[in-house]
Amino acid sequence: VVDIRKLYAQTGAFTYDPGFTSTASCQSKLTYIDGDEGVLLHRGYAIGDLAENSSFMEVAYLLLNGELPNQDELSGFTNTITRHTMVHEQLAAFFRGFRRDAHPMAIMCGVVGALSAFYHDSTDIHDPVQRTIASHRLIAKIPTIAAMAYKYSVGQPFLYPDNSLSYTGNFLRMTFGVPAEAYEVNPAVEKAMDRIFILHADHEQNASTSTVRLAGSSGANPFACIAAGIACLWGPAHGGANEAALNMLREIGTPDRIPEFIARAKDKNDPFRLMGFGHRVYKNYDPRATVMQKTVREVFDALKVNDPLFETALRLEEIALNDEYFVEKKLFPNVDFYSGVILSAIGFPTEMFTVLFALARTVGWVAQWNEMITDPDQKIGRPRQLYTGPTQRAYVPVEKR
Ligand code: ACO
Repeated sequence: VVDIRKLYAQTGAFTYDPGFTSTASCQSKLTYIDGDEGVLLHRGYAIGDLAENSSFMEVAYLLLNGELPNQDELSGFTNTITRHTMVHEQLAAFFRGFRRDAHPMAIMCGVVGALSAFYHDSTDIHDPVQRTIASHRLIAKIPTIAAMAYKYSVGQPFLYPDNSLSYTGNFLRMTFGVPAEAYEVNPAVEKAMDRIFILHADHEQNASTSTVRLAGSSGANPFACIAAGIACLWGPAHGGANEAALNMLREIGTPDRIPEFIARAKDKNDPFRLMGFGHRVYKNYDPRATVMQKTVREVFDALKVNDPLFETALRLEEIALNDEYFVEKKLFPNVDFYSGVILSAIGFPTEMFTVLFALARTVGWVAQWNEMITDPDQKIGRPRQLYTGPTQRAYVPVEKR
């Protein structure tokens, strides 16, 4: 690892690295990825172990505090998050300003950013107590806002949180309860959803997390920073890939049409890519995709459904992993490849998929934001550029141009 800052101070030389393929923007103790081996650790714990044995609240505590909680710590943390699940009543008015067919990620960008207009007290980033409260508020309120975005799109009344339920159970009820009293959380679906949240909780310096850090490096308040992260996550090359992957599977339809789409993905004159395939860091199987694939069957069993698109997805994976193009470029299924099939079986429309990703990733974003704020090495993020425009020239008055 070369400390370019020293080189720059001595020689004025700096690196040209579009897309930051080989530049570390920070130090972090949160998440470790070995892309060649397909390893993902949070604070040292393997993602497979966490997904199998822990809960989303445990992982949130782990990412924020560095250690897994004991039972008392977990209960205290869960109670604190639960206390913050309500949103200001005036936020409901924000929703009514949007078109009913607005993409819920558009609503999320606006409403989450607007939280800074309601919680002035926790915008003081220099006060550690306020930083903690802001973090808890964000983790607690995002599911409420996400469920409201869904309810608004289907023209149903908003539901208040029921704090007797788990974090994930509460979210499912706020989303699907019609009426609220009649909704019973299916424990298998609740477990699967909680696991999906764990799988999305953090992923080191991906585009949206880097966006949150960059926004935060200027001293912007945490609500504004997370709204910036949500905007970045929306893109189809990042969090929007889960929506795009399911749409692609629907377009392919049956396994006999797979070769046509594989050929298109390999054709450099066609912008089509296999959505849910490939990753900047993983050059091996994404360990989250392994858990996700297993979870599909669990959800299907619990709901007694069988979406034929899952068979298409499995076959597509098999064909791609035996194709020279994908082997040579080390393109494997990523976390988004199978998530759409599960989320669709649970009842979420595709537009909500990236919202669910944002909900879970909020934990990672706030943990990364807190780590950045307390890092004495951190400066305002300010990349350099290679200027390729004209050299200095004389101004020509408009009548002479
Ligand atoms: N289908 C077909 N070809 C692909 C795919 C794909 N899904 N992904 C990469 N390639 C090819 C590229 O065309 C390129 O080929 P070339 O070397 O001949 O030009 C090569 O593989 C490398 O691809 P890059 O785009 O340079 O790799 P990068 O690291 O910049 O991109 C990315 C990674 C954006 C994830 C890319 O693989 C992609 O677009 N995948 C589809 C979208 C997706 O699933 N995104 C989710 C990512 S995970 C997440 O955000 C949770």
